Amino acid sequence: MLERTAAAVDLGCTADFEAPRNRRILVVDDNPAIHEDFQKIFRGSLAGAGDLSETEAAFFGEAPSPETGATVDVEMDSAFQGEEALQRVVAALAENRPYAMAFMDVRMPPGWDGIETAVRIWQRDPHLQIVLCTAYSDYSWESMRAQLGRTDRLVILKKPFDTVEALQLADSLIEKWRTSRQATLKMSALEQAVRRRTRELEEVNQSLQAEIRGRKLLESQLVQAQKLESIGQLAAGIAHEINTPIQYIGDSVEFLRSAVSSIEQVVGEYRQALDSLPESDSGGTLRARLVAAEEAAELPFLHAEIPRAFERTQQGIAHVSKIVRAMKEFSFPDAREQSYSDVNHALQTTLVVARNEYKHVARIETHFGDIPEVKCNISELNQVFLNLIVNAAHAIQESGKCAAAGVISVRTLAAEGLVEIEIGDNGCGIPAENRNKVFDPFFTTKPVGRGTGQGLSIAYATVVQKHGGTLSFESEMGRGTTFRVRVPQEGYAS
Ligand SMILES: Nc1ncnc2c1ncn2[C@@H]1O[C@H](COP(=O)(O)OP(=O)(O)OP(=O)(O)O)[C@@H](O)[C@H]1O
Ligand SMILES: [Mg+2]
Repeated sequence: MLERTAAAVDLGCTADFEAPRNRRILVVDDNPAIHEDFQKIFRGSLAGAGDLSETEAAFFGEAPSPETGATVDVEMDSAFQGEEALQRVVAALAENRPYAMAFMDVRMPPGWDGIETAVRIWQRDPHLQIVLCTAYSDYSWESMRAQLGRTDRLVILKKPFDTVEALQLADSLIEKWRTSRQATLKMSALEQAVRRRTRELEEVNQSLQAEIRGRKLLESQLVQAQKLESIGQLAAGIAHEINTPIQYIGDSVEFLRSAVSSIEQVVGEYRQALDSLPESDSGGTLRARLVAAEEAAELPFLHAEIPRAFERTQQGIAHVSKIVRAMKEFSFPDAREQSYSDVNHALQTTLVVARNEYKHVARIETHFGDIPEVKCNISELNQVFLNLIVNAAHAIQESGKCAAAGVISVRTLAAEGLVEIEIGDNGCGIPAENRNKVFDPFFTTKPVGRGTGQGLSIAYATVVQKHGGTLSFESEMGRGTTFRVRVPQEGYAS
């Protein structure tokens, strides 16, 4: 009992397994007197009647003794032919009041015999318990078995039998019907509960799988973000280290430039003095030595080239300083919080950092609009811009365009509380079948080592989830692609 309760609770089973009370009996016999006798048996009034007809005596044998006159609480119906019995069984089923058992005669001329009737009835109501009342001269056991098959719904009762047998059979077969119905009900309730539970478990399983997928994605994004952050920190550290020597190289070059110009003035004086030397022997020898030294040092050439060399050196130092500054600004390793930032300046910085990726395939066209500062994490947005620029460069390369024909356009504009950034290319375009996959993590069409397929999925998470913005694109095969980032000016209150 305890076990059943536990199982019922575990499966969430509230079904009532109790089979309905059913004491309905059908007596099928072509002899009306037999029906009356069954009525009397069940009422207990056949006992002691003592005056059975010949056929009744063949059915019931001796008249039962008065002590056996116990009553059985049944509701008895009668059918006089097999066809009628089948109709009653079908009608009872339709009314949802099936018979629990039937007493059935074997010989019922002119219609079906008891065996055929049993076979037909079980086709409609397989639960009916049947007592086949047979005489020695009827079918052999083997032939009945051959027609009915092995079944536990059948009891064969040899005539004549006494009323106690009939009463006890009725009682126990009614109980058997009830317990087997109860077991069937219980089984179907359990099956239902198992099906429901299986469904629930499948749903839980599916949501767990989705969660695992989500977590794996977050994990990989985190790893990628951490990787980018540490590369950024490294780059910022290197930039800082380069910054100091570059400054004193710059200062020293400036000093050398002014020192050389001072020396050049002195050399000018010397040359005037040389020209005014007397033509005497000693003067002639000195002038010849100095002219030879000037020629050996290629003084005119130095005079022309030294200012240009200083010019180039200072330009180079300025360029290195710009890259170093961009490297420092690009990653802002300390900028974890959102703060107001100049997106146009950030794009310029990113273009400097990414130059090596596009300089051999495209030129850059910028159209920076007059936009307000945006509350954002600018180092994260820089990563987004970098990936879009690198993707654009790859797409132009893929299209086979020469460097002169490749164009990456970067455009910004302000619109109703938003800042919009467009990064477009005239590269290969995105094929229609890939358009709904490009934001999927790990989707890439690039060879191993060139792309991991994480750029756009991280960009999407950064723009949409972290900044409350949108990331979309338009693409045409052979003409190019434009990605559009929109971020709210006032940041994202998550
Ligand atoms: N501008 C573009 N033009 C054409 N195809 C593009 C463009 N941008 C992205 N794609 C397509 O979308 C895919 C996914 O891009 P995503 O940036 O996510 O990954 P990836 O560039 O392949 O690798 P990763 O960015 O991780 O190095 C690319 O492999 C490419 O097929
Ligand atoms: Mg990419």
